[in-house]
Amino acid sequence: MLFYDLREFLKSIDKLGELVTLSGADPNLEIGAITEVASFRKKCPAVLFDSIKGHKKGERVLTNFLTNRTRERLVFGVGNDLTDPEAVLYWKNKLKEFAPVEPVMTDDAPVKENVQTGGEIDITRFPWPKWHQRDGGPYICATSCVTRDPDSGYLNLGSYRFMLLGKNKIVAHIGSGHHGDVIRKKYWANGKSCPIAIALGNEPSLLVAAGTNLSWGVSEYGFAGWMRGGAVEVTRGVATDLPIPATAEVVFEGEMPPPEGGTEIEGPFGEFSGYYGGGARPAPVTMIKSVLYRKDPIILGSPPFIGASRGVLSSRGILVWNELEKLGIPDVKAVNYSWGMCIISLKQAYPGHAMRAAHGAMGGTAGYHGRFVIIVDEDIDPYNLEQVLWAIATRCDPETSLDICRRIWSYKIDPRLPKHKKEAGDYTGAVAIIDACRPYHWMNEFPATTQISEELLKETSAKWAKILGED
Ligand SMILES: Cc1cc2nc3c(=O)[nH]c(=O)nc-3n(C[C@H](O)[C@H](O)[C@H](O)COP(=O)(O)O)c2cc1C
Repeated sequence: MLFYDLREFLKSIDKLGELVTLSGADPNLEIGAITEVASFRKKCPAVLFDSIKGHKKGERVLTNFLTNRTRERLVFGVGNDLTDPEAVLYWKNKLKEFAPVEPVMTDDAPVKENVQTGGEIDITRFPWPKWHQRDGGPYICATSCVTRDPDSGYLNLGSYRFMLLGKNKIVAHIGSGHHGDVIRKKYWANGKSCPIAIALGNEPSLLVAAGTNLSWGVSEYGFAGWMRGGAVEVTRGVATDLPIPATAEVVFEGEMPPPEGGTEIEGPFGEFSGYYGGGARPAPVTMIKSVLYRKDPIILGSPPFIGASRGVLSSRGILVWNELEKLGIPDVKAVNYSWGMCIISLKQAYPGHAMRAAHGAMGGTAGYHGRFVIIVDEDIDPYNLEQVLWAIATRCDPETSLDICRRIWSYKIDPRLPKHKKEAGDYTGAVAIIDACRPYHWMNEFPATTQISEELLKETSAKWAKILGED
């Protein structure tokens, strides 16, 4: 097993010199600002905030835990010796062997060291950072939330942000179409509240599983167990019958009553798109019924920043790639997913191959919420955006190589979603397909590129290395 819990992961990254610990930061903007500054440092260290202003020593917040190559590789169990393309290929192929390792129930649960219910509950005692200057309030933003489908019993995990409203009241943003949203609406349709358990600090594979768009019915607990090489230990909650992560740092159990009973304003929040796209709008509340926590708990924070580094293994592109293969689309060479742009590199094998791949990516679970699908030939590295732009500029004919698909599943926090659509609850958007491949039917006549051959490149580099310098 990779890591038993978050604390074991922390010890490992500390040994590797990947962690800095900082005392006295203010949860009001300073933790967020330090995290942003650290994430743009060359080493991009993980930051553990202790003795946070207004809080006891030991009540900690951990940020930047997955945002560099070494730490990402640790959590994904992928060797640091592999190059990025090798690591992507390794993880993509490993994903195909995914077999859920289902969680095991235990009573021996560190998270039950402290249990509060009823009038004892006061979640404001935990550090709730206000991350960005225009945020509407303090947020916890790297959760793993458990809900259960009332029809099938399917246990779902998703990562959603929550804004603090009071001692036992919070408000979530759960995107429409996300499984957690589909599930809560089923309870509401029957006039019932939806039970939820919100875990705030976990061994990181659980956050990866909760934050990954796995298909409906696939167990995120099973995914995390498979990823870390050992079943996740769960324990029965005290206010719900949901199995909660036994080694979590903090778990809030609660319920989301039907919105007809009242809503509260959620947002704005600095979102992953780099905007406050969702604005401030009424959202259903979550009432907390129990709080379970370990001594000296550590809360995870993963606030989005424009341009913050992300490892290649966390890219949705890998999931899209596997979905395309499942659809039987051949010769995909690599897929990148960047800022809502899905870039697919393939070796065209037949007329329409590129467009088939584009439609496959749009229709899958992993490639949704994008605004552009770009298809490039196999000589273009989709991770190299300079090359991708070159392909668009030179191989795409705006008259014949662009298609616009309308009324596609999108999301309400899309910064480009017009106000009238937001107000009407129409969260659909358009996706442009940019076919930046050489036209298939005259591919062989397309002008050759000026790129010198691999052999000549190698030969020349070796021969003149002393004068030109090593690369
Ligand atoms: C750190 C992090 C924060 C996230 N925050 C949110 C959020 O606030 N709301 C949301 O709907 N999705 C959020 N996501 C994305 C969802 O967790 C992700 O799409 C997940 O697959 C949804 O799960 P579900 O479909 O099982 O509900 C976040 C993901 C991560 C990794």
